[in-house]
Amino acid sequence: MKKYIVANWKANRPKNSVDEWLNVFLKKINQQTDESSIVLCPSFPFIPLVAEKVKSLKNVFVGSQDISSFGEGNYTGEVPSALLSGLVDYSIIGHSERRTHLNESDEILTKKVSKAREIGIEPIFCIRGNQDPIPEGVKIIAYEPVLAIGTGNNESLPDVLQVKQSLKLPPDAIFLYGGSVDQDNARSYLSSDQINGLLVGTASLDPERFYAITCSL
Ligand code: PGA
Repeated sequence: MKKYIVANWKANRPKNSVDEWLNVFLKKINQQTDESSIVLCPSFPFIPLVAEKVKSLKNVFVGSQDISSFGEGNYTGEVPSALLSGLVDYSIIGHSERRTHLNESDEILTKKVSKAREIGIEPIFCIRGNQDPIPEGVKIIAYEPVLAIGTGNNESLPDVLQVKQSLKLPPDAIFLYGGSVDQDNARSYLSSDQINGLLVGTASLDPERFYAITCSL
């Protein structure tokens, strides 16, 4: 089964620098021949650099951490899908941090999903649990329980699978788990045929740790 490992650097530089992260990680990943997809989601300023460095690799992709609900135009500070075209294949939408700190509503998130899809960017849609509706057209869903994010308290595989059962997932959904994933617990999720991949925050900032997670595939 094809698995996805997504790095979400959030509003951080990775350990040392982006260049150094890429040098360490890409040297290792080059030796990998598996069928997984690795998606690197830096913050906007680093997207072109990362996109350039991974363009020749067939299993490493770039994603944004957000996308505007607006189109091109007079929307100061927004980054619409048209400006990301050709740079990213994926976009994280609906992360709980954005729902909380930026008050992103279900309505706004639905617009973001359609803006991404219009231009062929695949949304990686984050939900906190079954309270969050999944907009039409979403294929990749990342379940991220808030209490597990950045706390070191990852949710156990049986608990994740129980939540999965309760969700109204689209047919053929690609189901990811995120929340304190690290090199020690990644394998427990990836060994399940119910989990299609992982969304990794903190541990993705260190190229060695992130590489170790990809080795759990
Ligand atoms: P974490 O973050 O791995 O640091 O818990 C995951 C996320 O918020 O995507």
